[in-house]
Amino acid sequence: MYTEYIDIRTDRKNALEKAKRLILSGEVVAVPTETVYGLAANAFDEKAVAKIFVAKGRPQDNPLIVHISELSQLDGLVEEIPEKVKIMAEKFWPGPLTMIMKKSGKIPSAVSGGLDTVAIRMPKSEYARDIISFCSVPLAAPSANLSGSPSPTRAKYVMEDMNGRIPLIIDGGECEIGVESTVISFVGEKPRLLRPGGVTLEQIESVIGKIDVDNAVLNKLEQGQKAASPGMKYKHYAPKADITVVKGSLEGFCDFVKDKNCFVLCFDGEEKNFKNALSYGKIDDGQSQAKRIFDSLRELDEMGAKTVYARCPDLKGMGLAVYNRLIRSAGFNIIEVGK
Ligand code: TXA
Ligand code: MG
Repeated sequence: MYTEYIDIRTDRKNALEKAKRLILSGEVVAVPTETVYGLAANAFDEKAVAKIFVAKGRPQDNPLIVHISELSQLDGLVEEIPEKVKIMAEKFWPGPLTMIMKKSGKIPSAVSGGLDTVAIRMPKSEYARDIISFCSVPLAAPSANLSGSPSPTRAKYVMEDMNGRIPLIIDGGECEIGVESTVISFVGEKPRLLRPGGVTLEQIESVIGKIDVDNAVLNKLEQGQKAASPGMKYKHYAPKADITVVKGSLEGFCDFVKDKNCFVLCFDGEEKNFKNALSYGKIDDGQSQAKRIFDSLRELDEMGAKTVYARCPDLKGMGLAVYNRLIRSAGFNIIEVGK
């Protein structure tokens, strides 16, 4: 399949019209959002949604997020809208927040991975919302990477993974946030954080009070343990390089890697301490790390890195999302030095 590429920043009308034509005829189109690029199809079209799973190589039981451009679209998609969802939508939509509710009969089982719930998000990216409104259907879209690879924050990385697999990639430039949306389930008694992301836990709790944090956010699921979010159980965000997350001070870290033939993933300004180093943001700024984390994982591959030791981010604010992605990219290979 030939994969066409259109930049929506310079060729807007063409981008919207081609995206619409393809999506309404049951095809998959890569679209920019403020978090990461998504692989979008008409959420009501079961056959189109099936093509997303094929393009990504994604397991069928891993459900997709349904993207809307207006609040009025939510009504038809869910059984009912819990009070706390209304409060959260008011505060954080459009934005990097995905909320899980009981699904309505209109959501095909392919979208929800066979679950009776559906994940909904209203993206902040104007390009994403323009594409959704122009198509006038909600769009089911996972991140636009091959299953298991780092999520793409630039169209060139979508092209790397999806060239020949989908008919169209819409370029909207670099994603503003760089990690995916925060996923919260509103199905149980208490809201539960399933995936930390662009909206921080602190921000959420300042609006609706304490919520539960799913065990899989910070820990590896043990064999046989059921995943609240099916995505949590699969290998994720992994570059070709072998990554180890190293907790502890910079001094301890330097000591530990001193005689090793390796690459280092560090913070801005620390590069001078190492032979092969790549920075993924400022040490005290989770937002800058979020913007760089997936790119730096792909850059390490471009640099030919085989063994990588990564400095561990602080877990506050956006740092929690960065840590969650980094430990998955490392296959939960975490050590502590300098104790
Ligand atoms: O920022 C984002 O959320 C991006 C952009 C494209 O919007 N999308 C994204 O989708 O990250 P994806 O498919 O890569 O991740 C969605 C996550 C998966 O871990 C999936 O298992 C979980 O959300 N999820 C989706 N629907 C769910 C449901 N009904 N119940 C539990 N988890 C669900
Ligand atoms: Mg993904």
